[in-house]
Amino acid sequence: MAKVTSKFVCQACGAETRKWSGKCESCGEWNSISEEAVTSALGGGVAPKGRRITLTGLKGEAEAPPRLATGIGELDRVTGGGLVPGSALLVGGDPGIGKSTILLQAVASLSKAGPRVVYISGEESIAQVRLRAERLGIADADVLLAAETNVPDILATLSDGPAPAVVVIDSIQTLWTPAIESAPGTVSQVRATSEALIRFAKQRSTCLIFVGHVTKEGQIAGPKVIEHMVDTVLYFEGERGHQFRILRAVKNRFGATDEIGVFEMSDGGLREVENPSALFMGERDDPAPGSAVFAGMEGTRPLLVEVQALVAPSALGTPRRAVVGWEASRLSMVLAVLEAHCGVVMAGHDVYLNVAGGMKVREPAADLAVAAALVSSLTGAPLPRNSVLFGEISLSGAARPVTHGQARLKEAAKLGFEHAIFAQGGSQQVTIPGEMTGRPVSNLADLVAMIAAQSPSQGPPQAQVGEDVLHEFMPSSVPEAQLAQ
Ligand code: TYD
Ligand code: MG
Repeated sequence: MAKVTSKFVCQACGAETRKWSGKCESCGEWNSISEEAVTSALGGGVAPKGRRITLTGLKGEAEAPPRLATGIGELDRVTGGGLVPGSALLVGGDPGIGKSTILLQAVASLSKAGPRVVYISGEESIAQVRLRAERLGIADADVLLAAETNVPDILATLSDGPAPAVVVIDSIQTLWTPAIESAPGTVSQVRATSEALIRFAKQRSTCLIFVGHVTKEGQIAGPKVIEHMVDTVLYFEGERGHQFRILRAVKNRFGATDEIGVFEMSDGGLREVENPSALFMGERDDPAPGSAVFAGMEGTRPLLVEVQALVAPSALGTPRRAVVGWEASRLSMVLAVLEAHCGVVMAGHDVYLNVAGGMKVREPAADLAVAAALVSSLTGAPLPRNSVLFGEISLSGAARPVTHGQARLKEAAKLGFEHAIFAQGGSQQVTIPGEMTGRPVSNLADLVAMIAAQSPSQGPPQAQVGEDVLHEFMPSSVPEAQLAQ
């Protein structure tokens, strides 16, 4: 007879304790611990007798997993070539970002090739899902639909007849099983229901796709509990005010992580974006001070984004530092290095930094582009027309080379850029594509001198404004000769 006990589980981090307390010892969250009943499988503490298993070596036949291509290229790219039968996938993201839309499009596209696909919605009624399908123009797709949240019922339905190739569960937070007393969305419900469904998926070689909502802290609620149980975790991100959406692999047992798929939200649902670099760049016709194009990488894919900076005299005692799309601490570092090693002082200025298109840049390789945008805005001198930048800046003021230099340059050349300003050295040697000119920089002072040399008097008229500033900030560490270049 199984023994029933109760335990106390933190709803924020999933930590378990034997006693209730107001604050979780593990994550420090207040009021997040609730009591849950557990059924101990081991009952009275008698260890069940095990069966001997065969141990084997690393060498042997390893087959590549079969793949179910969804027909949505960007989705297949992120999953590493398509869905894997018998695997579980978690798609996380903010509410309203487009998780239900992309998954409905995916199953509809899959169903065309013949496999049996099931879409179970716990959040929307059948009528709502049908309405969306109509809007997406996929209403005639052969998708089996249900609005259900009870897991034993779902399992009984799925077990009846041939196993479906793909099952979408929208969302994991709505599922519940009567075996557990707590409410849907709590850690124990999320854990138990997803475990049961994953077990079914493995047994019947079904690919299971969970939708998971992200909480305020940016974690999937039922927090982290299911991330380790699934094979693949994809995050859907994007800014509300922008059309583009990025599907990012953060864990993938069947492919590379850090791969991204780029989509655009339109009236007809999510559309794949073939040339993402164009999406993240502003108008390039007129080089404006404060704008720099960063040749970035997202996984294995080069992606050019425009970094915009506005440096303006501040009336505040503590000037503002506002960053959108980049790390605030990284900006502070670049500002500190500019001040310490290049004599560029922005202490009396408000600094605003924005990555165009709502893109979030995570690479330190953007340091050089950010520094260039800042200095260009401060001085009013635009960067050379049609130029891209990449390179990391170290605290000593040195520009450090970054990986994938060649791929970055190739993408820039493909999009018609003519100059590259980048950190070069070490083993990361690159060849500049024929149609481009390269300007390697070895330290940040080099870059500052180069921008200063784009003398405002030769630049557009508004650059005149920057002339006094230019004298004020002129780097002391840069020799005159270099500035005169
Ligand atoms: P949805 O897939 O419901 O988001 P999630 O499941 O992540 O909560 O996406 C809803 C948003 O997408 C909604 O704000 C409307 C928008 N949308 C479009 O712009 N075009 C479309 O064709 C569809 C179906 C939705
Ligand atoms: Mg939804």
